[in-house]
Amino acid sequence: MDDAHLQQESRHRADKELVMEIVNVTKSLPLGREKVEILKGISFQVHRGEFVSIVGPSGSGKSTLLGILAGLDTPSSGRVLIDGTDITHMTESKLAAVRNSKIGVVFQAYNLIATLTAQENVEVPLYVGKHVGSPSARAKELLALVGLSHRLSHRPNQLSGGEQQRVAIARALATDPAFVIADEPTGNLDANNGEHILQLISQLRDQTGKTFIIATHDPIIAAQADRAIRIVDGRIAEIVARDGADLSK
Ligand SMILES: Nc1ncnc2c1ncn2[C@@H]1O[C@H](COP(=O)(O)OP(=O)(O)OP(=O)(O)O)[C@@H](O)[C@H]1O
Ligand SMILES: [Mg+2]
Repeated sequence: MDDAHLQQESRHRADKELVMEIVNVTKSLPLGREKVEILKGISFQVHRGEFVSIVGPSGSGKSTLLGILAGLDTPSSGRVLIDGTDITHMTESKLAAVRNSKIGVVFQAYNLIATLTAQENVEVPLYVGKHVGSPSARAKELLALVGLSHRLSHRPNQLSGGEQQRVAIARALATDPAFVIADEPTGNLDANNGEHILQLISQLRDQTGKTFIIATHDPIIAAQADRAIRIVDGRIAEIVARDGADLSK
């Protein structure tokens, strides 16, 4: 086999490699004396290098689901397997190690640290756990990747919304995680900045081969994903591939 074929082969195999398995995940929360069922049995699988978007109306359960996939929240029942390991029954310290090494998150609730510069914010995850190389060099490299080499010493309040979002993306990539899980990465941004973040995500995906799971209201992001999983009222309503095929039937 020639090189091109070998590459194609290995890409094909990589495409098929199962990296995340979500099995019948439910989430209920108490509301006064009642219980609200937020997720009502969600199951799907993600393959290495895939870009999956999670779409659906406001309040349908997207952020709740992402929190569970990122190991920041636990389901009421069901399992989430990452590389074959169930993360829903891990001790907090083991889970913290998995989060640090395998999962990069860009969540609006996980904002940048206001007193630190852009560079320091990206360095933070590298001081937790074991990582190769110098945090400072790695942070500079990542900020260059997101086009912010000229903003290393700026603190969050000295950065635009789009720039802050790019720092958050650089920080999510710092530990070279297999997954990047992002909740509305273009929310709160104007069309131009949103477009920049979108280009950045697709460029990072090509350059790093990472697996992206992104909740979004943005039809342009959803259209770029390999699959869009539509959640309605805590259930998967449909799964649509980029070519328009409905995979949920
Ligand atoms: N702590 C909580 N207690 C009770 N209900 C909650 C709690 N957190 C979220 N919910 C409810 O769960 C539902 C799903 O919320 P979630 O944030 O996952 O929706 P979403 O799809 O991300 O919405 P949006 O598109 O507006 O971000 C909502 O109806 C919300 O009111
Ligand atoms: Mg949300």
